[in-house]
Amino acid sequence: MIPKETVDRIIETARVEEVVGEFVALKKRGSNMIGLCPFHNEKSPSFNVSPARGIYKCFGCGKGGNPVNFIMDHESLSYPEALRWLAKKYNIEIEEEERSVDQLVKDNERESLFIVSTFAQKHYSKNLHETEEGKAIGLTYFRERGFRPEIIEKFQLGFSPDTWRDLTDAAIAAGYKLEYLVKAGLTIQNEENADKFFDRFKGRVIFPVHNTSGRVIAFGGRTLRTDKKIAKYINSPETDIYHKSNVLYGLYFAKKQIIQDDVCFLVEGYTDVISMHQAGIENVVASSGTSLTVEQIRLIRRYTNNITILYDGDPAGIKASFRGINLILEEGMDVRVLLFPDNEDPDSYSKRVSSEELKAFIAANTKDFIAFKTQLLIDDVQNDPIKKAGLIYEIVESIALIPDSIKRSLFIRECARIMDIDEQSLLTELNKIRRKSFDKKRTDEIQQEENNQQQPFIPDADLDEQPPEQAAILDRRNTKSLEREIIRLLLLFGNHSVVMEGENEQGEKEEHLVPVAEVLLHEIEEDNITFTFELFVKILDEVKEQAKRNVLPDINYFLHQQDDDMRQIAVDLMSSPYSSHTWEKDLFLSRNEKRIKLSAVPHTMNDWERHFIYPLKEDAQLRRSVIDSVRKLKLRHLELLIAEKQQLLKVSEDLKDEQAMLTIMAEIKNLGDAKVFFAKELGQIILR
Ligand code: CTP
Ligand code: MN
Repeated sequence: MIPKETVDRIIETARVEEVVGEFVALKKRGSNMIGLCPFHNEKSPSFNVSPARGIYKCFGCGKGGNPVNFIMDHESLSYPEALRWLAKKYNIEIEEEERSVDQLVKDNERESLFIVSTFAQKHYSKNLHETEEGKAIGLTYFRERGFRPEIIEKFQLGFSPDTWRDLTDAAIAAGYKLEYLVKAGLTIQNEENADKFFDRFKGRVIFPVHNTSGRVIAFGGRTLRTDKKIAKYINSPETDIYHKSNVLYGLYFAKKQIIQDDVCFLVEGYTDVISMHQAGIENVVASSGTSLTVEQIRLIRRYTNNITILYDGDPAGIKASFRGINLILEEGMDVRVLLFPDNEDPDSYSKRVSSEELKAFIAANTKDFIAFKTQLLIDDVQNDPIKKAGLIYEIVESIALIPDSIKRSLFIRECARIMDIDEQSLLTELNKIRRKSFDKKRTDEIQQEENNQQQPFIPDADLDEQPPEQAAILDRRNTKSLEREIIRLLLLFGNHSVVMEGENEQGEKEEHLVPVAEVLLHEIEEDNITFTFELFVKILDEVKEQAKRNVLPDINYFLHQQDDDMRQIAVDLMSSPYSSHTWEKDLFLSRNEKRIKLSAVPHTMNDWERHFIYPLKEDAQLRRSVIDSVRKLKLRHLELLIAEKQQLLKVSEDLKDEQAMLTIMAEIKNLGDAKVFFAKELGQIILR
């Protein structure tokens, strides 16, 4: 358990822009910051961070919350784990009882996999630096390859001796369960005979793979033998914490520099990443062991829009780069390419030349993809019109993948120039290709849209004009927006006071300064109005509960709820203060509006000032918003009651029960009168 004071300290210390900024490249936009949402795939930023409010919110996928929530979501951590993560970032010491290995393992399975992976990394490193065999074989190997001690340290390289169970035995002796060693891919267990198991990475040097927050999630092991029959690398299998296609080797060490340089270098292997780092180029990642995936590209896009592919100049490297180009273009990113001379890769080349020479080489030889493709193939096609047409077609196909039309036309122009061909015919070809893929995509998209049709928010739809089933949907939406508006006022302005006209005990009119929450709760309880939407019911209950203890609602209370839905709505409300603007529509209100001085003074000592500043616009209209929303809620309540009575009336008609019919009709009339009263009664609420 983390002590409450420590939790508070962590929450107070964590700055949302700093925490989010670890994973997302943020740009300033007014008082907020924006970036590409890490939770869904997008090309233009809709991910907002409000440092003043301490929250983030994506207007694309709806995710939002405070720094703790961000870490929970982004790193798939539990609440306490996320707090620990933040504590570590901010050097806040957590004094808690030592937990045994066993307890840790029980905590949860994924966490256990992280833990055994970290153990393994430490063990492999210890082997490398502290055992005779490790030093003689492993360390010597790395040194011979030119890796300096600090880089070996930084990338946490290790060594696994060529014996069957070095790691597994050590881990079990230290209290780790075989089950998790197997699940983490470190130990291979015989399927038929569970007693037979051995180290996956035996007899190899070890490259740990880190996730974006620096935790070890997998390993690559390189053999030291030159035997061609043995796989040069063995990698961790897919596990609960390692999904190859979503991971880029080196990203954890590269992300800062990628943001800074606004470009990411993509190389093929572990050693390329490490050598480039050693040469002082840190914005570099590898797709190690898989061909580049869309997920990996999107991972890079969190930090930059520019990728430069640095591959071997051999046929395999060229082919891989062609594939990569198209994938990257399709994601709307800018791609450039640099091929190293034949028989060289970034690793070998960076060791042959100085750091400055390497940088100069990259700067001088990086080409956009058209120049790259044409340069590669030009000799081949120069005197062969058919081959040349094939190459042009291939380039236009790549251009057709670019989502941005301006970029497309610029590239078409460049292609026309380089290939010495008429721009117009290229455009015609481009459009043909795009139409073809558009038709295909559209059928897919229409299907998708039908599958997840979102219901737009319709504020004041006229129910009578709708066909029945649509009316029912609108009705629900209307109710939802009404309830939501009440919740919004409660949470955002509950401890604001407004001037209300009421009657005192002597029946005289009197003006009171009343907190919004009190007005709302009073009105709701007076008429026994219940909410229909579960989440709103839950929040209202919570507010009532708090009000009983004389605490008026504070949105931060809800922001720190572990209940996902509650937290979500709190964020939504905070980030869109004008989303449910019933008052803006009802302009007729201003006609007989009395000039009433509003008070922006918070009623209780809830320290809202620290957290957010109320927008002026809302203050000026707060009273009207409160009154209006109550009026609408009551009208709605009356309508429901009337509808109920009308049902009853039908029943008694069927039963020919005239007495009942008369009673019910009288009740309906009363309710109808009340409805008229509320509809007329603007800006007046009887308080007592
Ligand atoms: N790879 C792999 N399995 C193999 C060969 C390669 O997973 N059998 C992956 C590794 O991630 C490797 C990358 O592909 O880093 C590139 O392969 P290669 O160029 O052959 O390896 P290098 O990293 O260059 O390693 P070295 O320089 O030690 O040969
Ligand atoms: Mn190599």
